[in-house]
Amino acid sequence: MAETLLDVRHEPKARAYEMVHAALDQVMGETRDPVTAMATISALLHHGFGFLWTGFYRVVSPELLRVGPYQGTLGCLEIAFGRGVCGTAAAERRTVIVPDVHEFPGHITCDARSRSEIVVPVFGAASELIAVLDIDSERANTFDTNDQAGLERLAAWFTGA
Ligand code: SME
Repeated sequence: MAETLLDVRHEPKARAYEMVHAALDQVMGETRDPVTAMATISALLHHGFGFLWTGFYRVVSPELLRVGPYQGTLGCLEIAFGRGVCGTAAAERRTVIVPDVHEFPGHITCDARSRSEIVVPVFGAASELIAVLDIDSERANTFDTNDQAGLERLAAWFTGA
């Protein structure tokens, strides 16, 4: 088992994501259950970085996301492809970084404290979109390409590679 409390807030981002990745491998071991991985990634990132909301929206029909494992206050249950930041990332199958949610047309407010966010697409073994990983921060400009690289690497767990 990894340490119960992983705190990466004082690490440079590349190192921080390296530590989260190592903890994920250590916690998951040979377990290949995607829901377990979503729960584990959410917990490690949320408490490791101190984010406001951290979790997954799963693709449950061709154009619909439904909330999956997460940490934080209640998330909205369903988001259509194309709506909000999550729906945009899902529809375009690419990472979306929003420095200030007030500047993003159609942003879905689940928690009024959210100021910036990043949403990363999650692909399965056949390169099909299975979910998005959504992280919200109370501060503006929290996320950059270092977060994108670290989170996309974590999301690669689901390809089974
Ligand atoms: N921020 C998201 C909505 C989901 S909640 O933040 C948990 C969006 O606009 O896609």
